[in-house]
Amino acid sequence: MAQSRRSPRPAHTLFEQQFHMSNSVRKAVFPVGGLGTRFLPATKSMPKEMLPVVDKPLVQHAVEEARAAGIEEFIFVTGRGKTAIEDHFDRSFELHDLLEARGKNDAIKAISEWLPSAGSVAYTRQQEPLGLGHAVWCARNLVGDEPFAVVLADDLVMADPPCLSQMVDTYRETGGNLVAVMEVPAEHVSRYGVLDVASDMGSLVEAKGLVEKPLVESAPSNLAIIGRYILSPRIFGRLENAKKGAGGEIQLTDALAAMLGSTPFYGLRYDGVRYDCGDKVGFLHANVVFALSRPDMSDEVREIIRNIAETL
Ligand code: G1P
Repeated sequence: MAQSRRSPRPAHTLFEQQFHMSNSVRKAVFPVGGLGTRFLPATKSMPKEMLPVVDKPLVQHAVEEARAAGIEEFIFVTGRGKTAIEDHFDRSFELHDLLEARGKNDAIKAISEWLPSAGSVAYTRQQEPLGLGHAVWCARNLVGDEPFAVVLADDLVMADPPCLSQMVDTYRETGGNLVAVMEVPAEHVSRYGVLDVASDMGSLVEAKGLVEKPLVESAPSNLAIIGRYILSPRIFGRLENAKKGAGGEIQLTDALAAMLGSTPFYGLRYDGVRYDCGDKVGFLHANVVFALSRPDMSDEVREIIRNIAETL
């Protein structure tokens, strides 16, 4: 679902404008500890975040989006069986030397060009799969006392400028807590965190309530959170000793809801299209669309799709 940005930002006093000028976001947290049961057997011995969209793992798409948004420190909250992610963001000398000996310069670029610089990546483990809120809380010491982004690699967004860049620009003006949102069909609201809208300014909305995975009948709206957040570090206080919520997990949405009233909460209708790569069909959809956007293969892929369509 494509969305477009429609409205001006809320007005701020001069003091607020000066204050918000310092709202820079330098760190991003990538919760990558999830089990990936929806993709078994593919994820039996491979992290779901390493599943490729065309030829790039989901987690690399996420890191590249963060880097484009000015993120300088990349914090992964991992779990058991996720070491392939650490290897992916490390240099691979054997492979590099082999490719060099064979004169494969394009392949060398493909394995090294996008690597974050030494010391800019940190890993911590979520020891138990207690939920997204708990995963974010596990990063508290690495984040410290500054605003930070959270990027869920499952949610792949095709956008220009990238989704997180749009959010960082907006956050400079809003501060508070900011999430990316999209309108979803009413029957799908129970898959998401959903906003109870206080004021709708077009591309930006302010929320007065938030519910994680509401029942279709009682959802406050169909405006759903997708996996992009810019959060105040005060969230860590709310996540400390947080109670289990929907699905028996410690939910980030519940901690955000608990901050309403003391920290403004905004949703940004970003300009772009989100693919749910935690879902098999969504993942296939992303692969087709991203392949079609690639000059090196779009003609061939278009031809294949045409042929398949003719047989349907
Ligand atoms: C998580 C969040 C939910 C959000 C969703 C976006 O849910 O808890 O609020 O709407 O990501 O993808 P999950 O998909 O991990 O169940």
